[in-house]
Amino acid sequence: MTKPIQIAIDGPAAAGKSTIAKIVAEQLGYIYIDTGAMYRAITMKALSERINMASNEEAGKLLAKTEIDLQPSEDGQLVFLDKKNVTEAIRSQHVTKAVSEMATHKLVRKHMVELQKQLAKDRGVVMDGRDIGTHVLTDAALKVFMSASVEERARRRFEENNKRGILTSLEELQVEIAERDKMDSERQVSPLRQAEDAVFLDTTTLTIDQAAQKILKLAEERMI
Ligand code: CDP
Ligand code: CDP
Repeated sequence: MTKPIQIAIDGPAAAGKSTIAKIVAEQLGYIYIDTGAMYRAITMKALSERINMASNEEAGKLLAKTEIDLQPSEDGQLVFLDKKNVTEAIRSQHVTKAVSEMATHKLVRKHMVELQKQLAKDRGVVMDGRDIGTHVLTDAALKVFMSASVEERARRRFEENNKRGILTSLEELQVEIAERDKMDSERQVSPLRQAEDAVFLDTTTLTIDQAAQKILKLAEERMI
């Protein structure tokens, strides 16, 4: 049997990372980890408890008393925050608008990166996020930087939100996505960046299946 590898997928919002990462993980029999869900979960809790994240003491206390658990499911991954299933709730616009600010927090990132490394230890894994290839799984056998035009990404998220019953306009989404990309790329701690050894994949004109097949092929080439 070939040795399981680690696959890191990074890129801007709504590029197709999680959808495609799930398929790749399923095909290879690996676990899938959506790291964005972890930042969303802590954001949701900080918002509901009105935590002042500018205070490192308060932020530290919040992290110490928070349990984020990711469990594989048929649809990819279930997210539990302090044992409560928040898989859908963390996708709200309320959380989406606040998450990138939270993701600039040094203590939060340190905590999440440690958890992510632990989750990926010694197993076949497909992990998606913003800093996976550059900071979390720096030795991953395959790193992919996935992108698509901002118009296409907004269109995709619009359709996805419609299906979820989240009301947003296409214009609003385009602005939100562009703002989040800017914040994620310009932050001081582990900004969104293509790792030097990552393969660039533009999914603008690719179907989900085409993109997944491309990654599976790259993964096979790296398996020994
Ligand atoms: O699904 P979508 O692309 O909208 O976002 P996500 O993957 O759920 O990530 C939400 C936010 O979490 C991102 O916009 C980043 O601010 C942050 N994030 C991060 O900083 N580092 C990661 N590894 C993953 C997400
Ligand atoms: O994880 P990320 O934010 O990068 O994107 P996603 O949540 O996987 O994908 C956003 C939406 O685009 C989903 O509804 C996907 O089904 C859709 N998508 C698509 O239509 N075509 C692709 N090639 C990739 C994703």
